[in-house]
Amino acid sequence: MSVSSEITDSVKKYYGEKLQTSDDLQTTACTTPAQRMPKHILESIKLVHDEVVSKYYGCGLVVPECLEGMKVLDLGSGSGRDCYAIAKLVGSNGFVTGIDMTDEQLKVANKYIDYHQKLFKYPEPNTTFVKGYIENLKDAGIGDESIDIIVSNCVINLCKDKKRVLEEAYRVLKYGGELYFSDVYADQELSDEIRQHEVLWGECVSGALHWQTLYNLAKEIGFEVPRVVTCSSLEITKPDLKEVVGDARFASVVYRLFKTHKDSNREITQVVYNGSITGCENEFKLDRHTTFPEGKPVIVSGRTLAILQNSRFKEDFLYKSAPCCATVAEIKEEDPFVILASADSKKLNNGAQCCGSKCC
Ligand SMILES: C[S@@+](CC[C@H](N)C(=O)[O-])C[C@H]1O[C@@H](n2cnc3c(N)ncnc32)[C@H](O)[C@@H]1O
Repeated sequence: MSVSSEITDSVKKYYGEKLQTSDDLQTTACTTPAQRMPKHILESIKLVHDEVVSKYYGCGLVVPECLEGMKVLDLGSGSGRDCYAIAKLVGSNGFVTGIDMTDEQLKVANKYIDYHQKLFKYPEPNTTFVKGYIENLKDAGIGDESIDIIVSNCVINLCKDKKRVLEEAYRVLKYGGELYFSDVYADQELSDEIRQHEVLWGECVSGALHWQTLYNLAKEIGFEVPRVVTCSSLEITKPDLKEVVGDARFASVVYRLFKTHKDSNREITQVVYNGSITGCENEFKLDRHTTFPEGKPVIVSGRTLAILQNSRFKEDFLYKSAPCCATVAEIKEEDPFVILASADSKKLNNGAQCCGSKCC
C-alpha cells in the first residue's frame, strides 16, 4: 500500500533539502536535551563520523541496555547517528538496520558504512540502510518476529498514521522484544492551525500525539503499558511559531514498549539483579519508577515480571516467591506534563529539565 501523501512529501523536502545541519532547526524539538549518559554509550557516540553527527535530528537518547548480539531496527534512521552508535554496542555478532524515506539522509548514512566497520574492526559491516516507509516495513523486507529491539528517535510524530507504525513495529518484533523510542507529545489535542503548519510539522511539533493516545494505541495493539524512561519539556521560543502553538505544551519522552506473551506468569515476585548488564553494574533502571540495585531483593508487579522473564533481561535476575503479604503498585499511565511539573517544583535534576536523573 502506498504511504505517500502531502505530509510525507513535505517532510522529505524538510529533511532532504531545507535542513543541512541541526543548526538549521527552528525549535528545540529535534535536539537531544542534556542528560547523563552511561560512559559506554557516550564513547560509542563519540566514534560516529562528524558528518553523520552534524545531521542528527533526534530528541532523546535511544540506546537501551544489553545490546550485544542483538538485531536492531531504527525507524527513521536519518543520517545514521544512532545506528552507528548501536552498531558498536551490538558487536560483530549483532546487526543494525536503519530505515528512512529521504534519499539525502540515506546518502549520508550509506557513505560511512565501511568507515565504521573498519573503525570498529569488524570482519563484515554490521549496519545497513534501507529506503522505505516505517508505516510499511513489509515492503522494506522486514519479516514477522525478526527483530530484537526497535529504536526510533523523533520520527513517529512525523507520520500521519501512527497506529500503522506501531502495528508494524509490533509485527516485526520478536516476543520479548521492545520498541525503545523518543518522540514528541502534546498536552492537548492540537488545533487544525497547528496541524497544518508546514514548518511546525517538519520540526516534529504539529504531528505530536496527545500523550494519552499513545497509551490507548499501545493497549489496542497488544504492547505492555508504555514505560517512561526520561522526559523533558520543549520550548518554542520563535515569536511567530509561539503564536501559532498558543497554550499547547510539548514534551519529548523516551518510552519503552515491550511485546510479551499474553499467558506469561504475572504474579508478584521477588527478584534480585545480578549486576551483569554492561554499564549498569551497580543498578539497572528499567523505567523511571523501577530500579534494581545489584544484589538487593526487589518486589516486582506481575507486569514487570512478564517483561523481565520474556525479554533479554531474563538471565540477569534471580526469581523467588514474594513474601505472602507483599504488595506492589502496577505501572500506570503517566502524564509527562505532570512529571515535568513535579520535577520543576521539586527542583530535581539541579535545574536541568530532563527528568531522567540517570540513564540506567
Ligand atoms: C527528526 S529526523 C530524525 C532522524 C534520526 N532519527 C536522528 O535522530 O537523527 C526524522 C527522520 O525521519 C524520516 N521519516 C519521517 N517520516 C518517515 C516515514 N514515514 N518513513 C520513513 N522515514 C521517515 C525523515 O526522512 C527523517 O530522516
